[in-house]
Amino acid sequence: MTATLITNIGELTTNVAADGDPLGTLHDAAVLIVGGRIAWVGPASAAHDRESTSGGREVGSHPASRSPDVLSRQEGLEVVDAGGRAVIPGFVDSHTHLVFGGDRADEFEARMTGAPYAAGGIRRTVAATRAASDDELRARLAAFVAELHAQGTTTFEIKTGYGLTVADEERLARLAAEVTPEVTFLGAHVVPEEYSERRAGYVDLVCGAMLHACAPHSRWIDVFCERGAFTPDEARRILAAGVAHGLQPRVHGNQLGPGDGVRLAVERGAASVDHCTYLSDDDVAALAESDTVATLLPGVEFSTRQPYPDARRLIDAGVTVALASDCNPGSSFTSSMPLMIALAVREMGMTPAEAVWAATAGGAKALRRDDVGVLAVGGRADLVMLGAQTRVHLAYRPGVPLVNTVWIGGAEA
Ligand code: NIG
Ligand code: FE
Repeated sequence: MTATLITNIGELTTNVAADGDPLGTLHDAAVLIVGGRIAWVGPASAAHDRESTSGGREVGSHPASRSPDVLSRQEGLEVVDAGGRAVIPGFVDSHTHLVFGGDRADEFEARMTGAPYAAGGIRRTVAATRAASDDELRARLAAFVAELHAQGTTTFEIKTGYGLTVADEERLARLAAEVTPEVTFLGAHVVPEEYSERRAGYVDLVCGAMLHACAPHSRWIDVFCERGAFTPDEARRILAAGVAHGLQPRVHGNQLGPGDGVRLAVERGAASVDHCTYLSDDDVAALAESDTVATLLPGVEFSTRQPYPDARRLIDAGVTVALASDCNPGSSFTSSMPLMIALAVREMGMTPAEAVWAATAGGAKALRRDDVGVLAVGGRADLVMLGAQTRVHLAYRPGVPLVNTVWIGGAEA
């Protein structure tokens, strides 16, 4: 079984809360990975003995002390010297729309000269996606996955929603499932052109044949509950149908204005309600009393020139907050979690520590996963070594590529 020791870590973010620190920060730490899982986390001084083992590289020097038992049993250990750099859990991007054709650069350009963002643009991407072959979409997806990994994202969710026929939604769910277990059926993204005069018929289709075709490839059901998309009553019906097919609910809500998305998400026990840009005091109170994560997507406000969501208000009220990219061709064509962290700190009142937590452990909670987003014994060995001595640099040095090395399931990406 392959084993890797990452040692001489200047600042290790474990997200295993300790001593009042929700990020469970350790200094001068080491992590042992065995068979793709975290086998041991502790002080670097306790992990020195094995550094000269064959296969090691960049061997550093550490004061002699006891090795952890688990370490002394490893053969052929690879040793990585972090040289005092910071290590964090891999980013968990709990909200993307990565299977689509075309792009909408022209719309972005028009917005930057004053045009508003409207949900209707989704239909343009639907047309381009329907026109793309499986292989074209698959190749695009592979490029996005490489882009995510290079930026430190080790777990990601993908939604359907640019097909909107039974066959097209089925192939988007199937293609997404080739690259992630976190697939969300979003047939209720917008009512497609051909159903614009018979929207009830479209809701029937989503709840019937389309759901039936997509459920085998999906874990989640989502609905865009917003003016211009689906009403709360339609959304309620769609989520209930998904749950009846074994899917778990999540909701797009309160993105373009105040609305019922948050209330619906809490009522349905959704894992997450995403956007949360326009919230009433009642929405915030309902979230605080629920298990529903508020997932904030600041790439959207950045690229639509909307006001940013108020993360401080949510956190101070006791709401669990996640950050995600919402990577899609319309409202947020970026997959950069470091950018989300920088925006959350600069524009949304989050501290650097809160933003890093929200982009890792928060995303894991939004996906109801406890094996990612934390560096705890037994969890998946998904880690990012930064080209910096502290995670604070993710917000302090915006736009600078700080992701140095990425491990996914213990293997260097
Ligand atoms: O999350 N809100 C709905 N869906 C996407 C936008 C999709 C698009 O404009 O193509 C979002 O922002
Ligand atoms: Fe979205």
